[in-house]
Amino acid sequence: MAVVESASLLSLAQEEVAAGIDQLFDSLIAVPADPRGRLYEAMRYAAIGGGKRLRPLLLRAAGDLFHVDRAISLRVGAAVEAMHVYSLIHDDLPCMDDDDLRRGKPTVHKAFDDATAVLAGDSLHALAFEWLCDPATHADPFVRAELCCELARAAGPAGMAGGQMMDLAAETSDFDLPTVTRLQQLKTGALIAFSVEAGAILARIPAEGRRPLRGYARDIGLAFQIADDIMDVEGDEALAGKALHKDEAAGKATFVTLMGLERAREQARLLVDQAIAHLGGFGEEAALLRAIARYVVERDH
Ligand code: IPE
Ligand code: IPE
Ligand code: MG
Ligand code: MG
Ligand code: MG
Repeated sequence: MAVVESASLLSLAQEEVAAGIDQLFDSLIAVPADPRGRLYEAMRYAAIGGGKRLRPLLLRAAGDLFHVDRAISLRVGAAVEAMHVYSLIHDDLPCMDDDDLRRGKPTVHKAFDDATAVLAGDSLHALAFEWLCDPATHADPFVRAELCCELARAAGPAGMAGGQMMDLAAETSDFDLPTVTRLQQLKTGALIAFSVEAGAILARIPAEGRRPLRGYARDIGLAFQIADDIMDVEGDEALAGKALHKDEAAGKATFVTLMGLERAREQARLLVDQAIAHLGGFGEEAALLRAIARYVVERDH
């Protein structure tokens, strides 16, 4: 497929997914007329209108491979995005990265307050599971249970939360490349991998059939994080919508500090090629996954 065609395939899908996710959040997070209103306002503030929606986009692309109903992959995409947004709210708190800007606007604790930000994160985390458990997600309770179990694994101490702990430790330890790789696989890779795998879970594809997708997800997850580290060094804050140049200031080992900019860039490119090679058994139906793989390293925000 020509590069231009693949770019428009990507931007069309991204627009459609972003609009769908906003609509779903709008209907699923309605503000009650009682003292909880402020909590719901904070959740909506964080979740609606912003971000690349990469994880729901991956879910749609992986689901499309197996002809999963797009309304269903969008719903599961909303659950993963809620989990991701929770992680960003907590990541920005004063006790973590202490950031004032996220997705081009004040962070939740700045726009509201710390306690509301903690509770908005907690609530989005819980809602992700509530939505997955709902029979509207899938008629088969085994599919719903597998989605919940895998998301729990990806978000917990053996996934994102564990990676965030290692990330805090990176400020005071001298991590080597294998350790930073593991840190990133947990911190960002696990949720990205879940997003891809969930498409196969929804279609009840057995474990052997998911192997190429797992390889793809592992490689783009790492490439994505290398791109985030490169952006932290040489990105544009206005485009990124968040504070940059924080990793070096914190004395954190990243792919860039360990490999240098040039080798990090080269490594990201190699990982994208490798990710695309994992999809060799698929045809045109994997075009969106291939386009996403290129996008994760070419993005400017
Ligand atoms: C930012 O994630 C945090 C990391 C995991 C590096 P994204 O770059 O996907 O952020 P949004 O969703 O587009 O804001
Ligand atoms: C955040 O990583 C990852 C999670 C929220 C799990 P970073 O701290 O590097 O993300 P940014 O740079 O603030 O978006
Ligand atoms: Mg952080
Ligand atoms: Mg941060
Ligand atoms: Mg970062």
